[in-house]
Amino acid sequence: MTIHRRQFLTTSASLAAGATLFAPAIHAAKRAKRYRTALVGSGWWGTNILREAMRSEKCELVALCDVDENQLRICAEKIGKVTSDQPKHYGDFRDVLDEQKPDIVIVGTPDHWHPLITIAAVKSGAHVYVEKPVGHTIGEGCAMVKAARDADKVVQVGTHRRVSPHNMSGMKFLKEGSAGKIGMVRSFVHYPGGPGEKTPDAEPPKGLNWDMWCGPAPLRPFNPTMHPKGFRNFLNYANGTLGDWGIHWMDQILWWTEEKFPRKVYSTGGRHIKQDTTTAPDTQVATFEFDSFTASWEHRQYADNNAEKHSIGCYFYGTKGTFHMGWLDGWTFYPSSKSGKIVHEDPTLHEPDLQNIRELFADFLDAIENDRTPVCDIEIGHRSTNMSLLAMLSLKLGRSLEWDGVGETIVGDDAANKLLRREYRAPWTYPEA
Ligand SMILES: NC(=O)c1ccc[n+]([C@@H]2O[C@H](COP(=O)([O-])OP(=O)(O)OC[C@H]3O[C@@H](n4cnc5c(N)ncnc54)[C@H](O)[C@@H]3O)[C@@H](O)[C@H]2O)c1
Repeated sequence: MTIHRRQFLTTSASLAAGATLFAPAIHAAKRAKRYRTALVGSGWWGTNILREAMRSEKCELVALCDVDENQLRICAEKIGKVTSDQPKHYGDFRDVLDEQKPDIVIVGTPDHWHPLITIAAVKSGAHVYVEKPVGHTIGEGCAMVKAARDADKVVQVGTHRRVSPHNMSGMKFLKEGSAGKIGMVRSFVHYPGGPGEKTPDAEPPKGLNWDMWCGPAPLRPFNPTMHPKGFRNFLNYANGTLGDWGIHWMDQILWWTEEKFPRKVYSTGGRHIKQDTTTAPDTQVATFEFDSFTASWEHRQYADNNAEKHSIGCYFYGTKGTFHMGWLDGWTFYPSSKSGKIVHEDPTLHEPDLQNIRELFADFLDAIENDRTPVCDIEIGHRSTNMSLLAMLSLKLGRSLEWDGVGETIVGDDAANKLLRREYRAPWTYPEA
């Protein structure tokens, strides 16, 4: 791989050899073996990833970076419970890369920042663990794949369901044909909720650099419902429920099928209920035409109830029955035959996030150490993200899109192709693939 990586391995090996001769060297060797790690975006999920990174005992935390000092403080307090490392605090990721030269950068910012930070990090020589969705527009994902390949760095995307024990066993069940031939997949996430109400814009809280938070996306006045966490439902910074939750289930569909992308996508929906400050659809249906099956997505941000048994996941409909791949409820197979038995498996998830970040981070480190592609490689994350983004584009344009997944263009639709990228706000420039 890169010189940087070889240097790391050589140093670790020689230190480990010396450790048997002199006891204090054992400690030094262990410390020296750790990857210099930086977290950029120290909010809810970034902190969850970092916790697992520190638990691996292979990471030395050198930097915490956030545009909000309040978020930095909260993260430092939480991470202080799992490490004695004393990371330097930063407000600008470029300073982290310049000064600390990290081996690993974890990107836990809102979606609109993932591409530029990931690309800058791999160019600086770091391996990257970046959250899903990989970006806000499809062109950014293309540029991220190129940057990762050019720099020969491992880039893992946070779609941890690929390493969750129940998702893995459920996929095996499906791929072995235990549900028969699958002709249709229905993915969905429903939340309870109501219309809500408008929240007035306000001055950003002290310690938050709001201009930098908006970064390459349009600058709008601060609104307390956007940060932390709320950006998901503001379309200039994220892509609503489909971009947030949906990509996990798009990823499960692409994991299951041998096909790499849908050939046609259509979506409809709107804001039928919500009257709050957010801009994302509260109701959305999307269909994806594949060669051998039809897939759909549905979400509602209201009317979650017990009537439909499962409110999150994917139903795979096969000739032998219906298979539900879920989250907290594991997976369940409902056979078509009256004499058949329901088969079920519970999930194995970790506290406090109730996901499997631990396994995904372990895979990331293993990929770095063994010079291999990680399980949620950037190209895989890019393709799954594309499904969400194409459906969002179809919803915006009000027409179906024919997708050339090899050339990554929309067939015969110049207006749609223009929206595969967007203008960045100066001084930031859109990344080129
Ligand atoms: N894989 C999963 O299951 C999963 C779960 C939750 C969230 N996520 C993803 O994690 C990301 C973060 O979500 P969250 O809920 O933690 O949001 P959050 O608002 O809690 O955290 C994001 C942080 O990034 C900071 N930030 C914004 N711009 C920055 C910049 N340029 N440099 C440094 N920091 C910056 C914000 O100030 C904030 O503290 C999102 O992309 C989300 O989709 C993934």
